[in-house]
Amino acid sequence: MTETRREIAQLENAHVEEAYARWAPVYDLAFAAVMAPGRRAAVAAAQCRGGLILDVGVGTGLELPMFDAKVSVVGVDLSEPMLRRAQTRAAREKLLQVAGLCVMDATRLAFPSGAFDSVVAPYVLTVVPDPAATLDELARVVKPGGEIVLVNHVGAESGPLAWIESWLGQKSASLGWRPEFPWAILGDWIASRPDLRLVERRKIPPLGLFTLARIERIK
Ligand SMILES: C[S@@+](CC[C@H](N)C(=O)[O-])C[C@H]1O[C@@H](n2cnc3c(N)ncnc32)[C@H](O)[C@@H]1O
Repeated sequence: MTETRREIAQLENAHVEEAYARWAPVYDLAFAAVMAPGRRAAVAAAQCRGGLILDVGVGTGLELPMFDAKVSVVGVDLSEPMLRRAQTRAAREKLLQVAGLCVMDATRLAFPSGAFDSVVAPYVLTVVPDPAATLDELARVVKPGGEIVLVNHVGAESGPLAWIESWLGQKSASLGWRPEFPWAILGDWIASRPDLRLVERRKIPPLGLFTLARIERIK
């Protein structure tokens, strides 16, 4: 990442941290149920390879109880107030699959290359300031033969929903996510990486609002 991009990302990370400090106490109430199908689908796809899984942007840890006890999950998040809730959940529910939870920026992961069998990031890409830099890091830490599993809202390309998303887009900093998120951000990134291939792209309930993408690191 260039110095200017790093400075912009740090500035925008501050917005994300502020937004999620506000969301943390009410996050589960607002988002546990509506986004549960995407979390379940992402966890099922990521854990079928077994082994060690990295959960990027683990938030309050709503997906942690969905992992089987036979995998090991490391969760990271930029927001300390969100991560603290994940730690409380893991302890309260005695989640033996949780190998570690720590505050970390997804664009600068403190893990060696190829450390994980799968990387999962439900509802994160629309939140991070620099999706391409984040995706590069996810691809770096997954093993060749491993998968990156993403779930996100992909923005409408036209019609009233596109208009509403564009209006909401002006409020991204206070919302803590980007309502407009064209598939091209992900599609162009995959196309630029000969070491990756898109394995699956599928709509997720409710109402196909979200999209699951499975990306394999082939070498
Ligand atoms: C919408 S929440 C999703 C949380 C969880 N995966 C879920 O399904 O409920 C997005 C999370 O991404 C985290 N996040 C945003 N930018 C990040 C970054 N650069 N590095 C790590 N986590 C980040 C936020 O703090 C927040 O907890």
